[in-house]
Amino acid sequence: MIRRSIAIKIGLSILGLIAVDLLALYWSLQQLISHVLVSGGAGQTTSARVELLLILSAVGAILLATGMTVFLSQRLAQPLVRMIHVTHEIGQGHLDARVPARGDDEVARLGEAINELARRLQRLDASRKEFFADVAHELRTPLTYVRGYSQVVADGLAKTEDEEQEYLRLIRDETDRVLHLIEDLFTLAQADEGILRITRETADIGELAMRVAQRMRPKMEEKGLGLGVSLQPDLTADVDVARMEQVLFNLLDNAFRYTSAPGQVNIVIRQRGDSIEIAVRDTGAGIPQADLPFVWDRLYRVDKSRSRQQGGTGLGLAMVKRIAELHGGTVEADSEEGVGTTMTIVIPVKAVESQQ
Ligand SMILES: Nc1ncnc2c1ncn2[C@@H]1O[C@H](COP(=O)(O)OP(=O)(O)OP(=O)(O)O)[C@@H](O)[C@H]1O
Ligand SMILES: [Mg+2]
Repeated sequence: MIRRSIAIKIGLSILGLIAVDLLALYWSLQQLISHVLVSGGAGQTTSARVELLLILSAVGAILLATGMTVFLSQRLAQPLVRMIHVTHEIGQGHLDARVPARGDDEVARLGEAINELARRLQRLDASRKEFFADVAHELRTPLTYVRGYSQVVADGLAKTEDEEQEYLRLIRDETDRVLHLIEDLFTLAQADEGILRITRETADIGELAMRVAQRMRPKMEEKGLGLGVSLQPDLTADVDVARMEQVLFNLLDNAFRYTSAPGQVNIVIRQRGDSIEIAVRDTGAGIPQADLPFVWDRLYRVDKSRSRQQGGTGLGLAMVKRIAELHGGTVEADSEEGVGTTMTIVIPVKAVESQQ
């Protein structure tokens, strides 16, 4: 359909040129015929004049055709020249430059593709800037605490030994936080570069979930949260066991952090077609609908100050998503404020090409 419209344009141009040529031919023949009729015979002067007329009409036709060709090719090339100019501008960093894309032919489609590319680059550029600002902020906050607490200890300002120990503990916690942040950022950067390898083995997903649940249970019960696991038997999949444990741990850790007692956390594992679905449900605070699509983004926290107090850096779910993708799987978030949250990951049973 689109290809046809370009063909129509070129066809019309060629027809135009033929029409110009035919008109010129018709005009010169008419001149010639009337001249022959008027002179009533073919003398030497007459034949010279006829020759001249023929040459003039041929030159006229060539000039007209050339003029038409230049005009039409200019019209066809103009949008392409504009596109070259705009792509050059985009390459120079002017990401708000746009190509005027009108119509529905291939040229217009190319223009729209260039505009879409520019829009995507603009979005990437904005999120890159935002990301660096967030990382700087995330590093500065704990390091400021470390500096302050160590100054207090160094100046001997702690009144008791217990108070000094408390400051040292806070320094250790904040240092752990920075280390955790750097480690996660490093892993995510490796995943982005496509050098984070996963080592798959056929594993019983139920057993894997039970192991992680066992590790979390004492902490949950101490806080006043119940932890249940419901699963279909014999569900196996080709996964990187350590990475999948990390996924489940991150989801349970969130359920633990953002659910207040008394509450309940459930892991539900079942078959979904050729995949296995692992869902972690909690009866916690929930996530506002407006925030829900962004919880998978790096360093995104719904309530910045609250989740910082609870130790969050906003990388846990980004890691979950990346690991699920490395397994060829997907993630889903479902939540209702004041009711609870369900985070689901769907992993293919058999290894498929990962979305690196
Ligand atoms: N189960 C949940 N209930 C309520 N809010 C949640 C839940 N899971 C995630 N969130 C919200 O999504 C945000 C992002 O979660 P994510 O796990 O990525 O980061 P985090 O928990 O803040 O830090 P960490 O990197 O230590 O996991 C959290 O800060 C929290 O606001
Ligand atoms: Mg988390």
